[in-house]
Amino acid sequence: MTDHTPPSAVAGTPAAHATPASPDAERVPALSVQDLHKTYDGGVQALKGVSLEVRPGDFYALLGPNGAGKSTLIGIVSSLVNKTSGQVRLFGVDIATDRDAAMRLIGLVPQEINFNMFEKPLDILTNYAGFYGIPRAEALVRAEEELKRAQLWGKARTMSRTLSGGMKRRLMIARAMMTRPRLLILDEPTAGVDIEIRRGMWETLREINAAGTTIILTTHYLEEAESLCRNLAIIDHGRIVEQGPMRALLARLDVEGFVLDVADTLPEALPDIPGAKLVKRDAHTVAIDMPRAMDLNRVFASLDAAGIRVRSMRPKTNRLEELFVRMTGPQAGNETATTEAAA
Ligand SMILES: Nc1ncnc2c1ncn2[C@@H]1O[C@H](COP(=O)(O)OP(=O)(O)OP(=O)(O)O)[C@@H](O)[C@H]1O
Ligand SMILES: [Mg+2]
Repeated sequence: MTDHTPPSAVAGTPAAHATPASPDAERVPALSVQDLHKTYDGGVQALKGVSLEVRPGDFYALLGPNGAGKSTLIGIVSSLVNKTSGQVRLFGVDIATDRDAAMRLIGLVPQEINFNMFEKPLDILTNYAGFYGIPRAEALVRAEEELKRAQLWGKARTMSRTLSGGMKRRLMIARAMMTRPRLLILDEPTAGVDIEIRRGMWETLREINAAGTTIILTTHYLEEAESLCRNLAIIDHGRIVEQGPMRALLARLDVEGFVLDVADTLPEALPDIPGAKLVKRDAHTVAIDMPRAMDLNRVFASLDAAGIRVRSMRPKTNRLEELFVRMTGPQAGNETATTEAAA
């Protein structure tokens, strides 16, 4: 990949995207990718005909195992990688014919932290804005706003090197937001950070999305996609193997999992409920897997008969994981071919 070369002209006015120019603007996809192919020098076919569409305002996940082609796709969309063939449009702007205009529409948060550790957050943000032709006075206003949103205002004049891992990640997002992108693209923004920091970042991303910015993110954390995203595409070996609304995909799973918290200490042996699988997690917690069609009343009746009183119940969060394994696993070959033929 090459360095992120900024477009030559000034970025849009603050929140210009919050109100679409016309009703038509809402119908133009934020991102439209048509039959995208990428073969790297040396012959690796990273993308083998990818097509997808992301609607304005969406929160979209790109999921896939290592080497699936996610970063290649993001690299092409953000003009860092040259495509072999196919078409990419950002809010109707073709990246091949109007690269500068397309680039002004997006903000990119790459996987690796790539700001100067010896600069201060405020300078990192204002210098970045200057790079994009944003006047200094305006840059300072935006920097304050973004640092406050990232909960970094107190660290604005601290050497970045001394920030915690989570703070550095949030600074990356704040920087990308300086140009007021209509589409924010994040390549594994939470890779390697602990769950607490991840949750904090999810809040920030939700806020950005709620304010009108379309978001696309790649992640290995399926829980993350499930918690944040409305739509998703699963990519494997350079092909889309599944795409659609998150809820519809999850509904296709025929097994449901729940975690039950019980009032008293669990008995030694759990009741045998035909069709369901119960696993004791600890003295007060049971995990249960059951077919979607199965009657929950039956489960509760059996638990009740065994003297187990359920205090609370929550869905397990590994359903997407299950789906993912099924879509991209070794036995998924035929399914993949069918999906593609149908598309
Ligand atoms: N610059 C490059 N030159 C040659 N091959 C490359 C290059 N970048 C990526 N590839 C190859 O293209 C394929 C897709 O890689 P890509 O980085 O897009 O996958 P990914 O889905 O982002 O994976 P990960 O989850 O590990 O980040 C891989 O086989 C990879 O080795
Ligand atoms: Mg990648």
